[in-house]
Amino acid sequence: MSDLKISAAELEAATDTILEIDLKTQAQKGPDLRQVHAKSHGLVWGEFIIEDSIPETLKVGVFREPKTYPLWARFSNASDPEKRGQLKSDREPDLRGLAIKLLNVEGEKILDDEHETQDFILLNLPIFIVRDVQGFANLTKAGIGQAEPEVLQSLAPTFEILKEATSKPIANPLLIQYWSTTPFKLGSHVIKFSVKPQQQDIPNSPQSSENFLREAMIKFLTEDRQEAKFDFLIQIYVDDEKTLIEDPTQEWKEADTPFIKLATLRIPAQKFDFEERKRLDEGLSFSPWHTLPEHEPIGSINQARKKIYQEIAKFRREHIEDRLREPQPYTVILDEPQ
Ligand code: HEM
Repeated sequence: MSDLKISAAELEAATDTILEIDLKTQAQKGPDLRQVHAKSHGLVWGEFIIEDSIPETLKVGVFREPKTYPLWARFSNASDPEKRGQLKSDREPDLRGLAIKLLNVEGEKILDDEHETQDFILLNLPIFIVRDVQGFANLTKAGIGQAEPEVLQSLAPTFEILKEATSKPIANPLLIQYWSTTPFKLGSHVIKFSVKPQQQDIPNSPQSSENFLREAMIKFLTEDRQEAKFDFLIQIYVDDEKTLIEDPTQEWKEADTPFIKLATLRIPAQKFDFEERKRLDEGLSFSPWHTLPEHEPIGSINQARKKIYQEIAKFRREHIEDRLREPQPYTVILDEPQ
């Protein structure tokens, strides 16, 4: 099993580059919002039902014994806000995210800001868009027009992955598959995980509404009173050729490492499209580091996410609190959409 390929100093420098740019764009475009994955299609409640018959060596962490955890699940678009006060239309090319927060999880966690949660965070493509954290720092610089021509050139594979993955038409976030894209521990194993719907998506004619993904979830869960069910699956590391750890742009192919089901994610029919839920949604913080040590994130990209997710969530929470605790003049708040 390979260790981090980049040095601790390189990791820190790349992490700080990303964070510095992210905090600036967050302040400009939406200090109350997540800097990316700003647009939510819905925060819904559900259950995570651990399978009865898990192989002995995989009975680790939350999968230790058959039981049912309550959860929150947040479905999102990956992009940042279009501008202050305006989120991008669902018709724009985008990646889609799923963040799951298991509740009532016993045991000491790696971070100490939440004590009883275990988060699993996924995207709707099996690979990540950059190889390592330096690649993500380059992409972040390119996003604000600060990348040298040779850096832009090195991002060509990233733009290819993004082009292909964001052009996939989807009709309903409850009916598509999601992947962790990066590796995690499962006790002494290294794994990737995926959440696969038991019902398949049927993308139909081009959508007219800019919020059609939230509308599809409302129709499914609230109006038609259907429940959404997903399989929570894992793939196990095989070797450094078939299942690379440090390069998540290389897919772990099912033929090399088949999926094993460990749990069912169940989202019952429900109402979720109301203001109080939206406030809860915006206030929550998901992070791959809200975890038991048995599910520790691995690799340079996951390492960088530790500080970045914490700082971005802290910034938006502090911004909201400060604005209310000691009211500031309009010239400081500048909350009118530009
Ligand atoms: C170095 C690489 C990455 C950086 C810098 C990054 C950055 C961020 C940030 C700043 C947030 C918002 C956090 C908050 O305000 O609470 C976020 C959310 C998210 N990220 Fe990443 N991310 C990275 C890699 C990944 C990877 C590999 C995945 C693949 C699963 C991913 C999926 C998501 C999802 C689904 C969310 C939304 C979570 C929610 O609903 O609250 N990210 N990311």
